[in-house]
Amino acid sequence: MKEMDYGPETYAVNGGLPLNTQHGAIAPDISMSVNNIYDPNFGDFSAKGMDDLTTAPFVYAGWSNPTVRQLENKLSVLEKTEDTLVTASGMAAISGTLLSLLKAGDHIILSDVIYAAVSEFVRDALPGYGIDVSVVNLTRPDELEQAIKPNTKIVYAETPCNPLLRLTDIHAVSLVTKKRGLLFCVDSTFATPAATCPSQLGADLVIHSLTKFINGHGDAMGGSVSGSHLLIAKIRAHAGVYLGASLPAHSAWLIMRGADTFYPRMKTLSDSALEIARWLEKHPKVKRVNYPGLPSHPQYELARQQMDLFGGIISFQVTEPSQILHRFLNEAKLFLHAFSIGHQRSLVVYLDSDELIKTSYSFTDQQEKDYREMAGEGVFRLSIGLERTDDLLAELDTVLA
Ligand SMILES: Cc1ncc(COP(=O)(O)O)c(C=O)c1O
Repeated sequence: MKEMDYGPETYAVNGGLPLNTQHGAIAPDISMSVNNIYDPNFGDFSAKGMDDLTTAPFVYAGWSNPTVRQLENKLSVLEKTEDTLVTASGMAAISGTLLSLLKAGDHIILSDVIYAAVSEFVRDALPGYGIDVSVVNLTRPDELEQAIKPNTKIVYAETPCNPLLRLTDIHAVSLVTKKRGLLFCVDSTFATPAATCPSQLGADLVIHSLTKFINGHGDAMGGSVSGSHLLIAKIRAHAGVYLGASLPAHSAWLIMRGADTFYPRMKTLSDSALEIARWLEKHPKVKRVNYPGLPSHPQYELARQQMDLFGGIISFQVTEPSQILHRFLNEAKLFLHAFSIGHQRSLVVYLDSDELIKTSYSFTDQQEKDYREMAGEGVFRLSIGLERTDDLLAELDTVLA
């Protein structure tokens, strides 16, 4: 049959390696073996030649495995990149990527607001390896240009960022990184491929916590980094083989199953999140709502250009945070108080600004001012699930009463 060009929803269901046809199974098999028969004529048993070891014959799960590779292929199709490495968690993808591509004496520019563990890893751990770090609000392009040094190698962004939902203009930043010969790495966990395709806007590497929306069921951890064959081969050798970050096959299988329904889930929960964000904005106890789909978002125009859907995460400030937290903890039945995001069930967490600034961010005065403008003394972060929107609204109405 003629090769077809399908839509991404179709590739999310059937992208990757062909199914095992032996039994006519329509669900993929799991290949649990971590070790495969090795033909000594096949090649060099070294991580340096490893780009050849991601296709049959598979050698060892440190490089890849048939089930893991199927997920990697699916993600490469969705992210429109040449290759993907999947890892044991989102943090493994991030730390593995940075430790693979940076060496002592190099410099990285990090977005000032970012997932807290990334902020702590880059600011606190990388300098211990001799890596120089600058922290910049990437919505201020002049600050990015000023922060670039002769030894700068990577600019690292998260868009929308956790927990502010502030955006980075991927295309605009990529014009700077391309001009200055830097790698541009974008964590697209909040956006997902259903909303944004960073590689098409100029990013060199696209990172996901697969633990979140792509798996979507809160039952498997995983991470991914997608990019060119050359970059991914290098990251696979360092992160997958040397650091041992590779993803177990069973988790890869669960995440692939999650990815089958990923597009309709994202559509449903983004529609629901938009309705909830609009409702919150009108509530008398809500001081501010951060959601890229609201015209009040300071980068609404950019959101409309860069995002096909606005996603499932909302953060908002309220007038009485401790009372409302108490009600979420004691009265809510649908919004579970839990840290992660992107599952089928709705989640809520309160993120106190003083605490986050003290533990994870060390802002300049201007960066703190920018942060507090969106987060005030703290925000509730909602991760909208697949429950009926009216039921979620009714629960929010009770909690905010
Ligand atoms: C934007 C973002 N990136 C990366 C991560 C880390 O992913 P994981 O928890 O799978 O290590 C998180 C976790 O919350 C996140 O929110």
